[in-house]
Amino acid sequence: TTPIIFDTDPGIDDAQAIAIALVHPEIELLGLTTTYGNVDIDTATANALLLSELAEQEIPVAQGAAAPLVKAKHPAPAHIHGGNGLGDIELPEVQGKALSSSAAEFLVEQVNARPGDITLVAVGPLGNLAAALQLDPSITGKVKQVVIMGGSIREGGNVTPVAEANMFNDPHAAARVLTAGWPLTLVGLDATHRCVLSPQDMDRIAAGQGRLGKVLADSYGFYSDFYRQFLGIDGCCPHDSCALAWLMRPDLFTTARGHLTVVTEGFAEGQTVFAPEGRPFLDERWSATPSVEVCLDAQGARVVEWIVDVL
Ligand code: BDR
Ligand code: CA
Repeated sequence: TTPIIFDTDPGIDDAQAIAIALVHPEIELLGLTTTYGNVDIDTATANALLLSELAEQEIPVAQGAAAPLVKAKHPAPAHIHGGNGLGDIELPEVQGKALSSSAAEFLVEQVNARPGDITLVAVGPLGNLAAALQLDPSITGKVKQVVIMGGSIREGGNVTPVAEANMFNDPHAAARVLTAGWPLTLVGLDATHRCVLSPQDMDRIAAGQGRLGKVLADSYGFYSDFYRQFLGIDGCCPHDSCALAWLMRPDLFTTARGHLTVVTEGFAEGQTVFAPEGRPFLDERWSATPSVEVCLDAQGARVVEWIVDVL
């Protein structure tokens, strides 16, 4: 099995991905760490607890970043995920509580307890991973892998012409995490925009997942309304599930290696900039940054089929 910690800002597509992490027989979900992003931090934590309760699993939840590292916090976009992060549908009451340790403390503790074993999958703004790195820089050599949903190599952005939301929401944290020198794969819009989860796909998912499936299906309606209205698509991109799809089925993605960083200030803030391996550039800062892997493309229909099959 693949032990993971899932760092998330649930979020409708986060909820779909959390469901995958909860039910996939080969994924061992060690914990959920939460960050502000699609919603404020308390709502993110409540949603993480709720989703595992609906799947009847007791998964540790550790609360993390309430705001970006440096830039000013801006309000969560309620028209995308709803004010409660799950499409403003009515939700059952949360029973459990978050751990007393912070997300960063939990990440550091778990990685140190199982050196070489754990994969960190992060699908929100990257404040928790940045805080964990600050707390214990040695974790770069102890994680098995870091998989990040975020950024865009050639696809352009979804918040600005160049920036993807998770990068844009905390570019300073992202810059630290992407250049930390650990084994890292970026699953960005180049891959996730190839994948469209249709209403029919969601019907199949809902049928298989009981109470959890109902929350996924009901919140899907809100998210797909946004896609229809603003992007003219019938369905939605299951961004965050793609990070798990890459982890379990890398054969469905096209990747490249190279140097990667994030613009932190100005009009292009949040833009990921990628320099393919082996191309020398005059500015030596580029070749000095660690090499990572980025997704350039995905077999969208097959990724969606994988998501529906798992759920
Ligand atoms: C990312 O932004 C968030 O709104 C989604 O949950 C996803 O993680 C896509 O750009
Ligand atoms: Ca997310």
